[in-house]
Amino acid sequence: MTGTKIIKGGTIVTASDTYKGDIVIEGEKIRAIGSKLKPYKGTEVIDARGKLVFPGGIDVHVHLQLPFCGTVSSDDFENGTKAAACGGLTTLIDFAIQSKGKRIMEAVEARRAEADGKVCIDYSLHGGITDWNDRTRREIKKAIDYGIPSFKMFMIYKDEGWMADDGILFNGLEETARFGGMIMVHAESVFILELLINRYHTPEMMKKYRAYAHALSRPYYVEEEAIIRAIKWAEVTNGNLYIVHMSTGGGADAVKAGREKGVNVWSETGPQYLLLEDSVFKKKNGHCYATCPQIKKKGDCARLWKGLRAGEVSIIATDTCTFTTKQKAMWKGDFTKIPFGLPGVETMVPLMYTYGVGKKRISLNRFVQLVSTNPAKLHGLYPEKGTIAVGSDADIVVFDPKKKVTLSHKKLQTNCDWSPFEGFRLQGYPHMTFSRGKLVAREGKFVGDVGHGRFVRRKPGGWKLLI
Ligand code: URP
Ligand code: ZN
Ligand code: ZN
Repeated sequence: MTGTKIIKGGTIVTASDTYKGDIVIEGEKIRAIGSKLKPYKGTEVIDARGKLVFPGGIDVHVHLQLPFCGTVSSDDFENGTKAAACGGLTTLIDFAIQSKGKRIMEAVEARRAEADGKVCIDYSLHGGITDWNDRTRREIKKAIDYGIPSFKMFMIYKDEGWMADDGILFNGLEETARFGGMIMVHAESVFILELLINRYHTPEMMKKYRAYAHALSRPYYVEEEAIIRAIKWAEVTNGNLYIVHMSTGGGADAVKAGREKGVNVWSETGPQYLLLEDSVFKKKNGHCYATCPQIKKKGDCARLWKGLRAGEVSIIATDTCTFTTKQKAMWKGDFTKIPFGLPGVETMVPLMYTYGVGKKRISLNRFVQLVSTNPAKLHGLYPEKGTIAVGSDADIVVFDPKKKVTLSHKKLQTNCDWSPFEGFRLQGYPHMTFSRGKLVAREGKFVGDVGHGRFVRRKPGGWKLLI
């Protein structure tokens, strides 16, 4: 239990308001908000003059210590959550992916055994469905009652044994909707993808295109077609569908069209799809940028920014799945062997502030909606998380909008020895991060305790609250 604190004189920013005020924190909760409040004797005063004070970022798409592509993603629950705290996040949601022949809840228990006691900020889990059968169907309600209302299905990853075909997706949408749950879908068109990968997976093509073959084998229509198909299944089942890591303008168009028809469909995108273009694969370390789905074109970035403003994209999330240069080197010139994934939790908030708010692509309140309030609402964490309100958890970022930082992996907490955003210039960086009232990071350095974070049980049906 931490003592009473007052964050004084900052500009408080929520999804709907921006105002000067003081926040009183008692233990883990926000107890009062007012202006020019007089601290009691013994209250710790945090001077926030000149700073923005907003709810901690919530990254709803993270893979820490994930066994994947023949290796394990390198930020584990301890270091990954330290990095997240340094970057202004106070909650993240990872995945418990079912193994063939096993229950979803076995995966949940295994993941919790890895994370509990190690995590430095709060976390939750999505289920990952890879083995659809009657037992899995019955488990959906159990998992939702336990506090896991969202389940990822993969339309690809056949070789990993993770793939859900259209029938499974259809069944999953029907069953989750019965209990207010949601299917999150990794939408890529498996057969076209296979065909294109085979086309580029020849010694000549790989010599010619090197890592760029990864981009060539995953053009926009690989994602767009799968999103359109998944939305159709959500429409006819009346299911609840969430498109993860959306990377294409065509995907945003499809979500918009689906929503206009009344389909329950939402989407997230990430900094890599907003700020990078597929020319990165032509760089010397181009293979390091391989992630899945692929980083696309300038026009896709522009359309996704538009979607963030207009509403067809509701959430910014990172899909963090960190691999070091040593792990990425496993490719040895073969683009099908690159471990897919990028680091992200530590840079999402400052990147989205600089390149979103700073470049006037989104307003300050929309920024808070996208990185905190909407993730909390849609994923069943609100109002404990995702806002600055009396009674909410004191998950708070005191953010310095003037601080200039040039991004370098060397200064970050992640154990990744490269960054996709190396050299990006930032204006605005987290000054302090509080997790349930406890200071966990200051000036990009972790100052909290290992094991402070808790598993958070989430509620179904959160989209009713969404902005
Ligand atoms: O390439 C990625 N994104 N790796 C993580 C797994 C996934 O599909 O989200
Ligand atoms: Zn995915
Ligand atoms: Zn992912």
